[in-house]
Amino acid sequence: MGRKFFVGGNFKMNGTVSSIKDIVHNISTAKTDPNTEVVVAPPALYLLLTREHLDPKFEVAAQNIFDKPSGAFTGEISASQLKASGINWTILGHSERRTVLREDDDFIASKTKSAIEQGIGVILCCGESLEEREKGTTVDVVTRQLDAVNKMVDKEAWKNIVIAYEPIWAIGTGKVATTEQAQEVHAAIRDWLSKSVSSEAAENTRIIYGGSVSDKNCRELAKEKDIDGFLVGGASLKPAFVDIINANQ
Ligand code: G3P
Repeated sequence: MGRKFFVGGNFKMNGTVSSIKDIVHNISTAKTDPNTEVVVAPPALYLLLTREHLDPKFEVAAQNIFDKPSGAFTGEISASQLKASGINWTILGHSERRTVLREDDDFIASKTKSAIEQGIGVILCCGESLEEREKGTTVDVVTRQLDAVNKMVDKEAWKNIVIAYEPIWAIGTGKVATTEQAQEVHAAIRDWLSKSVSSEAAENTRIIYGGSVSDKNCRELAKEKDIDGFLVGGASLKPAFVDIINANQ
């Protein structure tokens, strides 16, 4: 059986009660591809609201979690709290948390371990800066980020991880990676899975692309054999998000 197409919507730190309700209503009532797995990631404040109003065929994700199940960690939320609230996914390792919040590879790996142990899925982000790409170190950067996680989780954990390749230079810039650039790195990630985890993990793990995905470029990208979906930022806040969900039709 093939890999189920996966589209995540990362709202980042955007939205109000009213606008989130409108976005969620639009997604819930739109005609969407039943063969696409859809996960919506609002700001933490709106997780329960989103779960309450989103069609139950779609999943909800946090944009981050802490790496402990409970305790004296002011301001944090845990995977077990999410699971108990019907939130079955989290994004981890987004480049904005790596650069702005200074999260390092090992902390992201520890969070990934915690999420999997507490029963939620992980959209695990990786990707290089423009400088790293121009130096030709893209695959080194991405495999370093994935190696850190692989050291902390067992092989079975990868069944609950979707890898999101998000070149930092394409995030929020309108400069989407070309199909060749994206496919090349996705293929390298799949090769890493085969060599570092298992042939089964390489075959079954969804590797999705993020970075200026739009209704205009999604269909071409979706045709690439190692692109199994998208993690969408800005466009997930707009009605065009439905077109991206349907990109694989
Ligand atoms: O997590 C997805 C995000 O980083 C991509 O943002 O606005 O370029 O689609 P955007």
